[in-house]
Amino acid sequence: MRGLKVILLTLVALPAVFAVKSHDFKTCSQAAFCRRGRALATRARESSSWTSPYSVDPASVTIDPTKATFTAGVRSSIYPEIKFGLDVRVHEDGVVRVRMDEVDGLRKRYDEASSWALIADPEISREIQWTVAKDAVRAVYGHNNNIEVVVAYEPLKVSLLRNGQEQIVLNGDGLLHMEHFRTKEAVDQEKSGWALPEAPEEGLDLEDAQVVMQMNPRSWFEGVGDDGWWEETFGTWTDSKPKGPESLSIDINFPNHGHVYGIPQHATRLSLPTTAGEDAYYSDPYRLYNADVFEYLADSTMSLYGSIPVMHAHSAESTVAIFNAVGSETWIDVAHFVPKSTHTHWISESGIMDIFLMPGPTPADVFAQYARLTGTSALPAQWALGYHQCRWNYISSDDVRDVQTRFDEEDIPVDVFWLDIEYAEDHKYFIWDKKSFPDPVDMLHDVEAIQRKMVVIVDPHLKRTDNYPIYQQAKDLDLLIKKKDGQEYEGWCWPGSSAWVDFFNPASWDWWKSLFKTMPEGDKWAWIDSTENTYIWNDMNEPSIFNGPEISMPRDNIHYGGWEHRDVHNINGMLFHNMTAQAVMHRTDPPKRPFVLTRSFYAGSQRLGAMWTGDNLGTWEHMAVGVSMVLSLNVGGFSFSGSDVGGFFGNPEPDMLVRWYGVGAFSPFFRAHAHIDTKRREPYLLEEPYKSIVRDILRLRYSLLPVWYTAFREASVNGLPVVRPHYVVFPQDEGGFDLDDQYFVGGSGLLVKPITRKDVTETTMYLPENEVYYDYFTGHAYRGAATGKNVTVPAELHQIPLLIRGGSIVPTRERPRRASPLMKHDPFTLRVALSTTGTARGELYLDEGETFAHQAGQFVWRAFEATAEKGGKEIRIRSRDLAARNLDTAVDGVALTTYDARNAFAKDVARVRVERIVVLGLSREPRSVVADGKEVHWEYKAGAAAASKGEGTASMLLVKDPHASITTDWEITIHL
Ligand SMILES: *[C@@H]1O[C@H](CO)[C@@H](O)[C@H](O)[C@H]1NC(C)=O
Ligand SMILES: *[C@@H]1O[C@H](CO)[C@@H](O)[C@H](O)[C@H]1NC(C)=O
Repeated sequence: MRGLKVILLTLVALPAVFAVKSHDFKTCSQAAFCRRGRALATRARESSSWTSPYSVDPASVTIDPTKATFTAGVRSSIYPEIKFGLDVRVHEDGVVRVRMDEVDGLRKRYDEASSWALIADPEISREIQWTVAKDAVRAVYGHNNNIEVVVAYEPLKVSLLRNGQEQIVLNGDGLLHMEHFRTKEAVDQEKSGWALPEAPEEGLDLEDAQVVMQMNPRSWFEGVGDDGWWEETFGTWTDSKPKGPESLSIDINFPNHGHVYGIPQHATRLSLPTTAGEDAYYSDPYRLYNADVFEYLADSTMSLYGSIPVMHAHSAESTVAIFNAVGSETWIDVAHFVPKSTHTHWISESGIMDIFLMPGPTPADVFAQYARLTGTSALPAQWALGYHQCRWNYISSDDVRDVQTRFDEEDIPVDVFWLDIEYAEDHKYFIWDKKSFPDPVDMLHDVEAIQRKMVVIVDPHLKRTDNYPIYQQAKDLDLLIKKKDGQEYEGWCWPGSSAWVDFFNPASWDWWKSLFKTMPEGDKWAWIDSTENTYIWNDMNEPSIFNGPEISMPRDNIHYGGWEHRDVHNINGMLFHNMTAQAVMHRTDPPKRPFVLTRSFYAGSQRLGAMWTGDNLGTWEHMAVGVSMVLSLNVGGFSFSGSDVGGFFGNPEPDMLVRWYGVGAFSPFFRAHAHIDTKRREPYLLEEPYKSIVRDILRLRYSLLPVWYTAFREASVNGLPVVRPHYVVFPQDEGGFDLDDQYFVGGSGLLVKPITRKDVTETTMYLPENEVYYDYFTGHAYRGAATGKNVTVPAELHQIPLLIRGGSIVPTRERPRRASPLMKHDPFTLRVALSTTGTARGELYLDEGETFAHQAGQFVWRAFEATAEKGGKEIRIRSRDLAARNLDTAVDGVALTTYDARNAFAKDVARVRVERIVVLGLSREPRSVVADGKEVHWEYKAGAAAASKGEGTASMLLVKDPHASITTDWEITIHL
């Protein structure tokens, strides 16, 4: 490990203890607007006569019949002179959008959050008819006219009803408050008219409070004093707040929905525990404020690196969701004041109200509704679903070559090697440290020789130095973020003194894209020390700033258009990710699918690439919470997610590392990573039996790549997540609503429960239906029950509890290869897991994997089906084309007009065959198995006697080489 010492010496010393520096980050009570919002909620709850002061002015109600939009003026009785405008519209798919903004205010509120998140302006339904009554405006629509939106005037309340029952209610608890813009002078002047000179900082006694209330009639609603309106300090930081108070509070309630999910990213259970009300599980609200939380807690509502303000509410009868398109810091309280109903309270620092109500009624509907708003996951390059090997840092070209050789010597598959910040000279990204990496392009070519890829890091902080052309160009082009005084903002990050590009400035976009070109044009900068197969990792884009408030950027910094950083903070990381993805994609002509990993994200980031859950710890708690975090990200539409295998910090024992590979192998994004202070832990370094177990786990991942890729196709079309929690697959089964340690992989029927505890030898899996589930490895059959049933499954260190749901056909490729592109012409195995009625179904999607040729119809998409015929005397298994039948939903959000089953890709893989079919759960030994009119070779192993009832080892039929191509129709008949 030459060179490692040198690197260590140049590093900032990091504390060795595992503890988040909680004091670096605010609690709600340390954020003035959150404090104000929660105090408002407390006053509302404690007052029996509380009503929202906001109401619709009936005279102002305007319906635009062609647009089916309804607008109205809103007033607050405590500030009658301030005007607000409400705009409610219904989209073609039934989603309701509710916007409210201050009208003719002193300033403009930030109203562009949705423009970054949405893929397009949604089509507004023209069929909606608003009807105006004395006290409300309503619209009825949907299947059988079962959906109704009601905007009640006084107080203002927006409800979405299905079948006459309220599903989503805005301002039902009267917590709406849009703090209008005001000047300190005007407030001070008004205050001088009050009898009490100043409200004491900490609480008033009752008598004082009554006096204040009399003097200041607004205090019942806004509270007394001007808590943090004009300036706020945290630690050594002062936020100057030149715009004064402008926060937005709104309660969003879900009557009759006992579970809420989503609002990633938090290290919590999937079904969100309460933060308010009696027996609140957490004391602080869920916080959304993208932050680099060093050694974060494994069970906390603290904010993490990204924010997706999307929440699902679920019950056995209904699923609905909301998307609150706000880009500023947001806190969310969750409570169950009424059993099986959920009240939430959203408190944002700035911005307009722009909330999308998704009516469901099923989880699949909600995913589709959200995907139509913000887009689906991009279909990743296929290699990106393989295994990624990362470390801070592989320290030289020769180190990289050595690691690659060791993987190959040990026959351990891997697709991608990663380089962290130390590849770059003085952390000037793009510029290689030529002492350690004298020959970057040769090294990249050595990795690419077996179709592997390399990912290198490019962070958003630019070293402020004359000899860094990227910084100089950004400065010359005036693209850098400014302080409130208009001067270039300087902060401290890996390179020392750094500056940040303002990606909200459109002028930055083409410039940033130009930096990744590998061939120079004229004397312009080009990244000649890279290749078209060099992919990118965007870290630290919250942004992380070592000497900034909460390790981030001062909120009063200024972005393009004069917006403050506070207005756009949670969106900032997505723009950097977007531009990098575009840059990577357009390095070649025609473009290739980009791969860019991001740490920070927002609603819409799923369109751009992958994310990971940041700097986790090598502990069992972190391993376990990583699973529910990935599920939560999938709920938030961001399927391509994973946690660092092994844990970023610490030196996991071999058994923990093995289990962590089990978690990674069943995450959409699968990468091992480690902190620079940790011992090397590449899988080839493990002793036996650990090394062989990890090799087997990696091979399992590779054999299942067709399943993962097929799941990503589906996610790219209809937004259904790649990993699916129980409530998504079995929305009516209450027994599954709390589960977040077992989940389904796409629509494949695979149900997995990675083990995240030490010394486990068996575990319980929950089966949600009266169906047989087969152990993936042994064919052991378990029988569920209509009311749900727990079964005990083996889970020794070498075992991953993995079941196939009866009724599924799972396609795999089982030849071990060094990297996934080498599997392109490998044959398939089909595992046919018969249901209790002798049927099964599965899907397979395949394409070239790297280009966009699939969007022009170059792919293969097949259904496999097993049916019981002739009164159960025959089982027929067939393959048929799905693409021609489903042109509009074939791939990646791109509708096709025609599909040619003999497209160039299909021809390329025409000789790829199904080499074996394994049928689980036949009721008896076949008399014959016939394909193409000919008897084929088969073997049969009888199951245990009880297996017909779904308990014990199931029967297994192995059909070898059934003359079946992967691209054509075929049929195989099993005569029983
Ligand atoms: C990314 O940028 C492109 C081009 O500027 C834009 O069309 C797209 O909407 C952006 N996507 C996101 C998620 O910001
Ligand atoms: C399954 O086990 C869990 C955890 O012990 C328990 O809460 C649940 O009630 C059990 N479900 C059934 C159907 O037995």
